[in-house]
Parts: sequence; structure tokens; C-alpha cells
Amino acid sequence: MYRPFDLLLASAFAAVTNAAFSTFVYPADKGNLTFALSAASTGDVYVHLSAPAAYQWVGVGTGSEMSGSVMWIVYAGSDKGGITLSPRLSEGHVEPSFSDQINCALVNGEGYHNSIDRTVSTRYYSANFHCTNVTTLGHGDGKLNLGNAKQPFLYAWGPTDGAISSASNNAGIKRHDSYGTFWMDMTKATTSNSAVAAVPTGAALLSTTNAGADGKAENDGDKVGPAHAAIMLAAFAIIFPLGAVLLRFLESVKIHGIVQAIGVFAAIVGVGMGVYLSTLYNHSKDVSSGHQVFGLILLVLLLCQWAIGFYHHLRFRKYKKPTIYGRIHLFLGPAIVLGGIINGFTGFNFSGDSHNNVYYGIAVAIILVIVFTLLGWKKWSKRRQQKGTQMMDDNEEPEHDHLGLNLLRGSHNVL
Ligand code: HEM
Ligand code: HEM
Ligand SMILES: *[C@@H]1O[C@H](CO)[C@@H](O)[C@H](O)[C@H]1NC(C)=O
Ligand SMILES: *[C@@H]1O[C@H](CO)[C@@H](O)[C@H](O)[C@H]1NC(C)=O
Repeated sequence: MYRPFDLLLASAFAAVTNAAFSTFVYPADKGNLTFALSAASTGDVYVHLSAPAAYQWVGVGTGSEMSGSVMWIVYAGSDKGGITLSPRLSEGHVEPSFSDQINCALVNGEGYHNSIDRTVSTRYYSANFHCTNVTTLGHGDGKLNLGNAKQPFLYAWGPTDGAISSASNNAGIKRHDSYGTFWMDMTKATTSNSAVAAVPTGAALLSTTNAGADGKAENDGDKVGPAHAAIMLAAFAIIFPLGAVLLRFLESVKIHGIVQAIGVFAAIVGVGMGVYLSTLYNHSKDVSSGHQVFGLILLVLLLCQWAIGFYHHLRFRKYKKPTIYGRIHLFLGPAIVLGGIINGFTGFNFSGDSHNNVYYGIAVAIILVIVFTLLGWKKWSKRRQQKGTQMMDDNEEPEHDHLGLNLLRGSHNVL
């Protein structure tokens, strides 16, 4: 019996398998990144993108450089095993931004699905989507040209830490661990029969076809973020507390001043890095987060603290009397250091590395115990010494230590 439905099915099947496509497979260190594209000359573009889910995100974009590229970025969705497709536009060497001008949507169909899949040993993002107006977007060689036999594309993937689980297509992504470029023959991927253009599946995804890599992926990664963190944490959790301890143990205002000046210098360099870092990411470019604003306030206070300390020192040398500046310096100092230490926690939260707060918290706790033990012990032993001299010589008079900071009682010579 003649069954038109069967014929329809058969022709639909033939259409999918015979559709024009180009496929690029890149062996990333955790597994293959596969990008396959099929287009209709109307401008409709169908894409399959898969890559190891060990990466925080993976992306492919048009063009040979970030600037002017139309990008498709994929990361884990908010439901377990789900993915989010984030179409973005890029204007250079900063985080690309989501754009609803790019009219793309995930599509479901026979033989593919949009999810994180587990193959033998690796989990892969798998995204299949349809876009209608990609060819009108982007600029430079980032403008997709369906007549170009050597259309440039780029790919990149994020670091293996700081996993995202977000349904938002504007989630913050970290700077790439690696990136590279490839080309595709768009003439071979484009059909004039828009009825047969569809997401490439099955055998079409197995190997590079009508495409080629431009060399190997470049290693990249965010070096400024860790440097910013290391310098700021060294200043607030190590150098400034050390300067305070040395003041009491060496009883040298000079050494205290030098060590704290080194700390202030480190903080200025670290904040400079923080300001540069701020320009790279969408969530930081407005410099409006608590971490950034509080960090800038701390830097201003730090400069005041240094000036107040210096002024106190000059006056104390002249009048040999404690000053109000000495008192301010004494209370502001620990407050700023505490503020800086707290800003370390907010920094890790801000960058999405809040797991580091455990190690950081332990390190800070150990340092604080050591510092308070040393300072407390010094104060106690001074008191004892003082009592001893009082008993021997009742004519005791020094009410303030030579630092004029009103904290320790001693009978030393003024510097
Ligand atoms: C947070 C997000 C991102 C940041 C901060 C960022 C930053 C940068 C920087 C600073 C460079 C220059 C590296 C160098 O010359 O050493 C660069 C290059 C590059 N990036 Fe990105 N990028 C981001 C996202 C992406 C995405 C999503 C892709 C692709 C899907 C990508 C692809 C590339 C490629 C192919 C290059 C080399 C070509 C060029 O210089 O434009 N990037 N990126
Ligand atoms: C007391 C001062 C500060 C401390 C202790 C501090 C510490 C940190 C730490 C520990 C991180 C995490 C780094 C990572 O996970 O790799 C971080 C990230 C960051 N900080 Fe700071 N910071 C301070 C001040 C500032 C200032 C003044 C700015 C800018 C105005 C700034 C901008 C940033 C940015 C943009 C990030 C990275 C965000 C990202 O990776 O997405 N920080 N900071
Ligand atoms: C298609 O792209 C144009 C830019 O040329 C944009 O203005 C428009 O909103 C886009 N259309 C859709 C449906 O997203
Ligand atoms: C990666 O792709 C190559 C072909 O380009 C294929 O031979 C290899 O089996 C693929 N690896 C995995 C893990 O799928």
C-alpha cells in the first residue's frame, strides 16, 4: 500500500544526512571540542557545539580575533546536567557581553539533546542551536560570510576551576585557559534549499571536514588576578602585622616606618592591578562592588595612616609628648589591617573562588594568633620589667613609652 507518510519520513531523513555542513574538531587536553555548522543561504545557521564540561565554559566565535566576533558560549545551567547557551558580542580583549540581538535558540531534535553528557570517562557539554541573523552582526572578519571558503573562526575554553551553574545568559566567565583560531569553508556548509538545513548530527560530527585549524591552541589564563590577590594579602596579612610586631620588639620607629612604607607601596601596586583587573570583566568594570569600593577606601585610609604616623613622629620628636595623631594612628592601623583582611574574603567571593576562603581563613587565623601572642607577651614582659625598676627606684616618672603611642610603659631614650 502506498503510504505518503513513509515517503515523507524517508525524504526528511535523507535531507538531514545530505545537508551541507562543515565540522571542526580540536583535541583539547580534556577531550575534543567539536563545532559543526550548517547554513541556508537565507542566513539561517544551525550549529552543534560540544566540548569537555571540565572547563568552566567553552566558546566558539566568528572571526580571527575577539574584537568584532559573534560568540556562542556554553556553560553549566542551574539544573543538574543542564546547559546554558550565551550568545555574546565582543569588542576586544575583555569579557564578551550577552546580546539579545543575536537571535539564537537551543533546538531539540532526533539524535541530539542539549545537556551535559557522560561518555566513557568524560563529561561533555552538548549544545545544538539555530540562529537567524548572525550574518548581520559582528564586524571586521567577525562578520560571517556564507560565501567565504576560508571563513575565520575562533575558539576558547575557560579554566577547570570556578564551575558556573547559572541559567542566566550573562553569567560572569573567567579569562580563557586557552584559545585558538580555525577556518571553515562556508560554501560547503551552505545550501540554497533552506528546507534541508539542520543541526549536524551523527557521522557529521566525527572528524574535521571542510575546515582546518590554524596551528595549536595558545595557553593563556588569568595571571593578574592571582598576582593582585598575592600582593594584597601579603601586604595586609603579613607586611603590616610584621611592621607592628617589629615596632614593639625592635623599638625602632625607623624600621616600623620602613616596613609599613613597603606595605603601602605593595598595596598601591596591588590596587593598580585590581583596577586593571576591573576593566576585564562585566561584573567589575563599573567599579561598584563592595570589594572594589571598600578596597579603594582602604587605600586612601592607608595613605592617611602613613601621613598621620609620620606627623606624629615629627611632633613627638619635638615636644617629647604623646599626640592625638599618635592615638589616631594607633587605632586606625589595626582597623585598616582588619578591613584589608576582610576584603580578602570578599575578593575570593567576588571572583567566584570562594572555596579559597577556607585556606585563607586558616592562614589568617594562624597569623593573628601569632601576632597577638607576640604583642601580648611583649606588653606583659614590659610591665614586669617596669614594676621591677619601680621597686628599685621609686622616683619613677615615664608615663609613656618613647614612641609616644601611650601603649607601652618604658623608660627608653627617645630616638
Ligand atoms: C572573561 C572573558 C575574556 C577575557 C578577559 C579575555 C581576554 C583576552 C585577552 C587579554 C587576550 C589577549 C591575550 C594575549 O595577547 O596574550 C585575548 C585573546 C583572545 N581571546 Fe579572549 N577573553 C575572554 C573571553 C574570550 C572568549 C569567550 C573567546 C572565544 C569564544 C575568546 C577568544 C580569544 C582569542 C581567539 C584570542 C586571540 C585573538 C585576539 O587577540 O583577539 N576570548 N582574550
Ligand atoms: C584590601 C584590598 C584588597 C584585597 C585584600 C584584595 C584581595 C583580592 C582577592 C583575594 C581576590 C581574589 C583573586 C582570585 O580569586 O584570583 C581579589 C579579586 C579582585 N579584586 Fe581585589 N583586593 C583588594 C582591593 C581591590 C581594589 C581596590 C580593586 C579595584 C578597584 C580590586 C579589584 C578586584 C577584582 C576586579 C578582582 C577579580 C574579580 C574576578 O576575577 O572576577 N581589589 N581581590
Ligand atoms: C538582527 O540583527 C540586527 C542587527 O543588524 C538587530 O538590530 C536585530 O534586532 C536582530 N534581530 C533579531 C530578531 O534578533
Ligand atoms: C576526537 O576526535 C578524533 C577525530 O578528530 C577522534 O579520532 C577521537 O576518537 C575523538 N576523541 C574522543 C574522545 O571522542
